[in-house]
Amino acid sequence: MTVPPLDAEIAPGLRLRTLTPDDASLLVEATATETGRAVWGPYPAGPYTPAQAREALHAWSGDQTSFALVDGSVLLAAFGLMREPGDTAELAYWVPPPHRRHGYATLGLRFLTSWSLSAGGLRRVWLEIDPANTASQSVAGGAGFRYENRIRDHCRNPDSGAPHDCLIYSKP
Ligand SMILES: CC(C)(COP(=O)(O)OP(=O)(O)OC[C@H]1O[C@@H](n2cnc3c(N)ncnc32)[C@H](O)[C@@H]1OP(=O)(O)O)[C@@H](O)C(=O)NCCC(=O)NCCS
Repeated sequence: MTVPPLDAEIAPGLRLRTLTPDDASLLVEATATETGRAVWGPYPAGPYTPAQAREALHAWSGDQTSFALVDGSVLLAAFGLMREPGDTAELAYWVPPPHRRHGYATLGLRFLTSWSLSAGGLRRVWLEIDPANTASQSVAGGAGFRYENRIRDHCRNPDSGAPHDCLIYSKP
């Protein structure tokens, strides 16, 4: 079962909505100033071409869904929901560099989490965070997640493939 589509105004003028393959130009513009990876792994680090954006959005349908916090036609934050068996899902997030430190990741994650656990039909959502990523840990705490445990070598560096520990956060 896939999660239902989402389209909601979560703050004045800001919508959080499901992304579709028609949103390729939004991803091209949003990734234009990115030198790292965005949320649609395993796609390359840095700006997306229109073809890569279309490919990412096609791949992110079904068990993987992506969402954007938008102000009109500007993408302020993106979220990935990766469904696992048993009505559970991992969430991930990414904010385009020019829009960081405005609270968009925290705002969107808080809403997406409560929506996932209600209208989205999930019973558990969690985050997997690199111990070095203190910004992401702050977002998790700000959105009401609690640290659960540290799993040795559970995650992989997307570029080198090297395993590393990750911190699991979940919503109580
Ligand atoms: C991590 C990330 C999503 C944060 O997005 P954001 O919209 O800037 O986060 P918020 O504005 O909601 O920040 C919430 C809190 O996180 C902390 N924080 C955010 N960025 C930070 C940074 N670069 N350094 C230290 N703390 C930071 C702060 O405590 C911040 O509160 P403040 O703005 O009052 O200082 C963004 O930096 C990003 O996309 N990074 C690359 C991708 C990534 O790491 N994704 C998470 C993978 S698990």
